[in-house]
Amino acid sequence: MNKVITIDGPAGAGKSTVSKALAARLGYVYLDTGALYRALAYKAIRNRVAIDDPDALAKLCATTDVALQNINGRMTVYVDGENVGGKIRTEEVGLAASAISAFPVVREKLLSLQRNAGERGGIVAEGRDMGSVVFPDAAFKFFLDADLEERIRRRTLELADGKGKAKSACVARDMQARDQQDSQRKIAPLTASPDALIINSTSLSVDEVVDRILERMAAAGQRRPNGRKPNGA
Ligand code: DC
Repeated sequence: MNKVITIDGPAGAGKSTVSKALAARLGYVYLDTGALYRALAYKAIRNRVAIDDPDALAKLCATTDVALQNINGRMTVYVDGENVGGKIRTEEVGLAASAISAFPVVREKLLSLQRNAGERGGIVAEGRDMGSVVFPDAAFKFFLDADLEERIRRRTLELADGKGKAKSACVARDMQARDQQDSQRKIAPLTASPDALIINSTSLSVDEVVDRILERMAAAGQRRPNGRKPNGA
């Protein structure tokens, strides 16, 4: 049976790369929930909406259509009918996404969209609160972490691949700000669900992390052939 697999963790821990690779290995759909927050943040920036004003954000949420469409096994985000994928990967949008994600109105707007995407299973869902809030009954939960230095190094490289050069000092500052915002907010903070397997990927390759996840899934399946709550066993 197709299952929901959740992968949570801080920025730069390798969640996206690992989740994409895992989804491809299993023939599952890949859902990047950070892209939903980024998409709303992108519209807020473009329309000069104050990202710290709950009323302005409530209005933004009420007047924005956010939709997901499965394109070749990857959920693509549309904002008011526009595919914003190419425009939401900047640090500016990431920080704004982190800021608006602390507001209940924003999280509520995006919750049902995420749950609907996982309704039929067969999905690898990546984010901050996948195992704790969005998919509490997920079959397998993982929390991917890495040392701060390594996360900064990876993120710097990733941004340098895109437009312009990323300065490691700026990336470090932004990442620490985001870590703090994401883990200290009142609702759905970044946290490892008690039934999630924590993997530290600092010295592991993407394939090694994916192998570890698949091994864990296989081992849990063998131990509990009825497939019920195999995680954390
Ligand atoms: O994964 P990402 O860097 O694209 O996410 C951008 C921001 O969105 C992140 O800093 C916090 C927020 N986010 C969230 O609050 N909950 C999620 N499930 C995913 C992302």
